Amino acid sequence: MQRMLEAESGAALAPVEDYLAELHRRISGLGGGKPADYIPELGKADPSLFGIAIATVDGQIYAVGDAGVAFTIQSVSKPFMYGYALQHYGRDAVLKHVGVEPTGEAFNSIVLDEVANRPFNPMVNAGAIAVAELMQGASQDARVASMLALFSSLAGRKLDIDEAVFRSEQATGHRNRAIAYMMLNTGMIRRDPNDVLDLYFRQCSIKVTCRDLAIMAATLANDGKNPLTHESVFDVQYVRDMLSVMNSCGMYDYAGEWAYEVGMPAKSGVSGCIIAVIPGQIGICVFSPPIDSQGNSVRGIRVCQEISNEFELHAFNNRTNVRSVIRRDYRADLVRSNRLRTPEERAILANEGRKVAVLEAQGALFFGSAEQLLRRLTQLASEAAYVIVDFKRVHLADASACKLIERAARAMAGGGTELLFASIAPDGPLARLAAIFAQHKGGHLAHMFRDADAALEWCEDRLLARAAHGSSGTKFALSEINLFKGLKPVECRLVEAIIQPLVFEKGDVIIREGADANLFFVLARGTVSVQIRVPGQNGRKKRVASIGPGLSFGEMALLDGGKRSADIVAEERVICYGLGVQQLQELTAEHPNIMITILGNLTREFSERLRHANEEIGVLE
Ligand code: DON
Repeated sequence: MQRMLEAESGAALAPVEDYLAELHRRISGLGGGKPADYIPELGKADPSLFGIAIATVDGQIYAVGDAGVAFTIQSVSKPFMYGYALQHYGRDAVLKHVGVEPTGEAFNSIVLDEVANRPFNPMVNAGAIAVAELMQGASQDARVASMLALFSSLAGRKLDIDEAVFRSEQATGHRNRAIAYMMLNTGMIRRDPNDVLDLYFRQCSIKVTCRDLAIMAATLANDGKNPLTHESVFDVQYVRDMLSVMNSCGMYDYAGEWAYEVGMPAKSGVSGCIIAVIPGQIGICVFSPPIDSQGNSVRGIRVCQEISNEFELHAFNNRTNVRSVIRRDYRADLVRSNRLRTPEERAILANEGRKVAVLEAQGALFFGSAEQLLRRLTQLASEAAYVIVDFKRVHLADASACKLIERAARAMAGGGTELLFASIAPDGPLARLAAIFAQHKGGHLAHMFRDADAALEWCEDRLLARAAHGSSGTKFALSEINLFKGLKPVECRLVEAIIQPLVFEKGDVIIREGADANLFFVLARGTVSVQIRVPGQNGRKKRVASIGPGLSFGEMALLDGGKRSADIVAEERVICYGLGVQQLQELTAEHPNIMITILGNLTREFSERLRHANEEIGVLE
């Protein structure tokens, strides 16, 4: 059999398989142990066989050595059969049938929990035999077929049974027979032990490779979904149960030392295979027939110890830094929305903006990090009238975080502070959180916004309305329009003579990106948004700013006459004045002060925007 050395993708050796190749070379020489021979067929295994495979939750596979050599799965089948039982009968029913208590005994120990009248756990042979009884099917053939279908789903390819090993175990499996009959005797199993054992011996005799088992382990790491086929084999709640029992019982009377030294949920098999799981990350499999007195592969244990130490993969290496959940927080006096504001509005927001606090969260929200975030939220809520929590950079919120956030929102509801949540997409990674707040739509626990900019604009509008600056929303008189501030009344009337009053309905594109620019506009009533095409996203448009009454847009026409750089879209019914660049130039040829005043206001407007952008960059860095 050709020994695997390079990654499946055929690319140059990436760091992981470079490490695995070096590890394989180093441990190939490790002696000790011998192939199991209490099942005679297993005793024929070549002790020099040695393969390592790692599969990631997104289906990348790294394999070295004899990772393609077939062997029988043996006890590594047990956690998956336990998962099947949980999936088909549920936790309570399965717990009545088999416990979750480590025995500290050998895998084939004839000890049963006579108090609960069940085997201690599903990892020892007694428990595995009891679990085998739960395989569904109207006939033995049907049950075997279902069992094979389960393991084929887990491997992502059709698996079959090594008949020689099956017959060998069937012929010699007397200890298991004894265990089965003891359990029949006490009612721990009810079906004919020979049928149950037939299925159990067949499950142990399924032919797999290191690569197959790495994928099966990665399926557990991937919340029960096969990384290659994306088939969901187990519900995530049962994966947690399987990993818990693997962690406490998977390595039998070596489980304690394993948890101490390696710290990964794992399962070994007497054929010399060990699987280990790093939840959310990878599945590992090592195959090397020589086993120690506890039935675990000698090289397998060493490989897992080394990988755990080298990459600090022990479950209790603290990787979760809750403190980094808060990216930053700032106030709206320093950072404003992308809504362009008149100088008067900007002045008010510079004063009132501190009443709006923005809290940016990032990373994963679980109990510890959510607690940190909500503690800061509560602090800000005691100081601000509006608190915006932006979840844009949060990629996960687990159940505990969602519950805590809901509780915090309930506690704040009706209090003096308005709570606003931004960037929680109903179909995104925070769907669970979105669903909770959708339920409270009526109760109004929090205002939901597509992004922090929209939330900030909403708060600003409320501050401006509070400052009673909220004008009627119309600025018909040219003197009220920022661009014309400083013009003499006679000059205003000259400009009025050339303006074209225009009305646009909601959704109308007033200016289209790339079009010629020979007109610019001042807004008398309504709101328009500035939208640009997002490169490489099939023409998707992104709203980058919005403009209200008293401000102008399309002024570039006046400055460089270049093509339009963005779409301007009416967000509601809009009344604005259009000014032809040519007409204005003809007018100001005779009345140059008009152009001087307009360009002066424009320059001040642009420098004010630039200055504020610099300040914001300073705050947001
Ligand atoms: O029942 C047996 O003894 C074997 N079919 C499986 C035992 C096993 O793999 C124990 N693992 N270390």
